[in-house]
Parts: sequence; C-alpha cells; structure tokens
Amino acid sequence: MKKQKAFIFKCSSCGHEEPKWLGRCPECGEWNTLAETPVAGRGTAKEAAGRTIPQSMPLASVDPLEGSRISSGIRELDRVLGGGVMKHSAVLVGGEPGIGKSTLLLQTAAAAETRGRILYVSGEESAGQIRMRADRLGIKEKAEKIEILCSGNLEDIQTIIEAVKPVLIMVDSAQTLYSLEAGLTPGTLNQMKFCTWELISWVKEHDAALFLTAHVTKDGMISGPKSLEHMVDTVLYFEQNDRAAGPGGQDCRFLRGTKNRFGSVDETGIFTMGEKGLTAVDDPSSLFLVTREGELPPGVVTAAVAEGTRTLLVEIQALTVPAKGSISRVFSDRIDSARVSRVAAAIEKHLGLRLSDQDLYINVAGGMRITDVGVDLALACALYSARTGIPCPAKTAICGELSLAGEVRSLRRLAGRIKAALGLGFEKFLGPLPETARDSREVSPPSEKSGVPEARSGEKNNYLPAKDLKSAIKAIYK
Ligand code: TYD
Ligand code: MG
Repeated sequence: MKKQKAFIFKCSSCGHEEPKWLGRCPECGEWNTLAETPVAGRGTAKEAAGRTIPQSMPLASVDPLEGSRISSGIRELDRVLGGGVMKHSAVLVGGEPGIGKSTLLLQTAAAAETRGRILYVSGEESAGQIRMRADRLGIKEKAEKIEILCSGNLEDIQTIIEAVKPVLIMVDSAQTLYSLEAGLTPGTLNQMKFCTWELISWVKEHDAALFLTAHVTKDGMISGPKSLEHMVDTVLYFEQNDRAAGPGGQDCRFLRGTKNRFGSVDETGIFTMGEKGLTAVDDPSSLFLVTREGELPPGVVTAAVAEGTRTLLVEIQALTVPAKGSISRVFSDRIDSARVSRVAAAIEKHLGLRLSDQDLYINVAGGMRITDVGVDLALACALYSARTGIPCPAKTAICGELSLAGEVRSLRRLAGRIKAALGLGFEKFLGPLPETARDSREVSPPSEKSGVPEARSGEKNNYLPAKDLKSAIKAIYK
C-alpha cells in the first residue's frame, strides 16, 4: 500500500495545498507563502467507516421552507429581502465604509419581529460604542433581548452562539472574522471565507438567520465581499450615488439586492439617514422630482420609471456639447452609458439629428441609478431637447422602451406609471401604444373613484401614444 505523506505545503494566504514546496502559490500568486504543514486527520478509511452515509429523498417529501420568514421590522429592508429574512438563510450587506451598514444591523436587531434572542457580534466597535449608538437610535425597550459580543474570533463566537442560541445573528463585519484553523495570517480572504462558511453552516442547521456586513471599496469589489456572494443566500448592497438630498435635505441611501434565493432583486429599499439613524422613505414616487415653475429648460424631461413594484418619477437631464476630441463621449453614471449611446444612435438614424459629433452628458436628479428599460424614450426626448434647444412641455411624464429600429415598445406596469404620474399632478403622459383592449382601458384617464385626480376636466387626450420615435417627438414637441 502506498504510504501516506505526513506533510503537505499549505499557503498561509489563501489556504491552497500543494504536495511539494513551491516558491509561489499557484492559487493566489503570493510569493513565499507555502509552509510545511503536517497532514491532519484527512478522511482515512477508518474515519469514513464511522460516518453515516447520506441518503437522498424524494423532492415531494421535503417540507417547503415557505412561511418561516422573520420580519426585520424595517419595511424597506423586508421589501428587498422579499418579505422578511428566511430562517436558515444568510444575508450579506455590502457597502462603502460610513454608508450605514452597522446602523442598519443594529436597528434590525431592535426592530426584528421575533421573541428569540439576537446576537450582535462586532469586531469593529467596542460594547460601549455600540451602546452609545443604540442610545442615539432610541433602542431601549428591545435592548433586553440583544446580546453583544465584541470579538472577531470564530471559536469565541461559536461558543457564545451555542450558549445564547440566537434566532438572529448579526456579524459586523465579515472582514474582522478570523480563526486559527484557517491559516496562519489573520485577515486574509481565506480566513473570511472559512469563518463565514462556518457561521452559515450553523444557521442552516438551526432555526436562525445570519446577517453579515462587508466593506466594499470602489475598486475592491472583487477581492472582498464578492468572494462571499456564492455562499450566502441574499446579497444586498447599500449605496449612495452622491450626497443626494432627499426630503428635508437628508442623505438618501439605496439598498439593492444583487442576489436573492428567496425573492426578487428588482426592489430597492430607500432610506434617509438622520439624527436617529435610518428612516424608511414612505412615498418615494416624488422623491426625485424637481419642482419647477413655468417652462422647463431644454434637455430636461420627467421619466416614469418602475423600480420593483413602485413607480418613481425622476427628472432626466441631458446636455450636448460639441465633442472636444475626434470621437464623441458619453458621461453618464446613473444610466448605463451603453444605453445612452444606443438611444443616441437611434435618434441619429431615425430622426436624422446628428449626435455623433457631440459629447453627451446625462444626469438623473436625486442620485438614483436607473436600470429600467422604460427610461429609453425619456432619454431620447431629453437628448433631442438638449440638442435642438426646444424645451419639453411642462407637466409631461414619459416612459417607453426603444428598439434599435426606432419603435416604442410596450412596457410592464404601464397603468401603474400613468396613475403615479397623474397622481403627482402631471397632465400629459407620453408612452407606448396600448397593446390590448385591457391596456387601452387602463390608459384612459382614471376616474375619480380610483382616487386619482382627473387630469383636466374634459381633456380626453392626456395620454399620448407613440408608435415610434418620430411620432413620439412629434407628439410632444409639436
Ligand atoms: P455606520 O452604520 O457606522 O456605517 P458603516 O457601518 O457602513 O461603516 O454609519 C455611518 C454614518 O452614519 C456615520 O457617518 C454617522 C451616520 N449616522 C447618522 O447620521 N445618524 C445616526 O443616527 C447614526 C447611528 C449614524
Ligand atoms: Mg460599521
């Protein structure tokens, strides 16, 4: 029988194992990190014999998990989670330092609708600091059931978890976790992955859920939390595109899901950060709307965009200036630049309006990042208006997807968008042709019964349907 090797060479940075010594780890590319390590009880035949053999089972006999959600007590967080956090699941909350991850976790710990205990583990702040923050957030009555542990040591955390048996575990942050088992250098990627995996394994087997925070820096997305994404069930990113002022001039922050095994990733949670921590924004439909008196400046239009199940009315601003270089450039960080280029190309081709010799600047008031395809037509109208200097008529909302052939395509939730716009005092709505009889019923002006104000007495044509780009421009810039 072949004799088992007593030593292997293990990378102290990433944990990769090699049978022989190498100067550079082939896994992580670090130099001089491979160290001789004794082989620790790896699956010998004897051990394997003592192990119970796993059995498969018919899918139909498995109990569904549905119904075992815990409401976080914070409506906007529940919205992005898909109605609360599932038991046995792990949620990663990523974001830049200072965005409010620790605040969100502490507020969730206080508001969560559970009778069980909550363990708040912090490797970043002292117990005193957490208490100060809790006092500031006004967490008093719920403080009884929150246990605080200030440590990043996995073995310590596991001991406490076994003693406290929490229903919710909050870990702030994944980057501060370390374990002696996971390599010699604390704070490496391997440490973070190993510890996170251990905690996830615990919640999978118990009636509990795990929240983890992780710092993201603008360029560190790949090496940090990204490497945890495949392990957790839900990934939420907290972002603030710039210091956009919300109602009352407060900071606006957005919580978006990029992965969710138990819900959609379309929803965006909208918060403002104030004196008493994060506050969910009740009615965001008008949050990104700029109220203007009289005529609009050229290049400014209002789009009705769908964000998950909500409609937001947002101001889109376009500016075109003769290109400084030989090629035209697009400056747009709220709407994908590729989308802007595509819409600009459609305008050039189908309206014969030259944009390829212009630099294009696109902005969305309020700092919201827009991914909805329904913004295409509004973008086209803004670019047209910016280039020609003809202002878009006031109190007009626009939505519609553009095809490369210049057609205006129909959209999901058209009726909801029209309703939201009319509700906010818009008088005209430019959008796609109603596709079916049901759609055309939906687009007729809502009656008073529906609670939405009539657009204008006697005005039937407040909906401007457009078949293609040309007819859309004709309809509003006539
Ligand atoms: P924090 O949750 O510590 O951010 P993170 O954990 O993501 O690094 O919150 C950071 C910011 O929020 C900090 O700049 C202070 C501010 N803040 C308030 O404005 N109001 C509050 O009530 C709290 C607790 C924090
Ligand atoms: Mg923090």
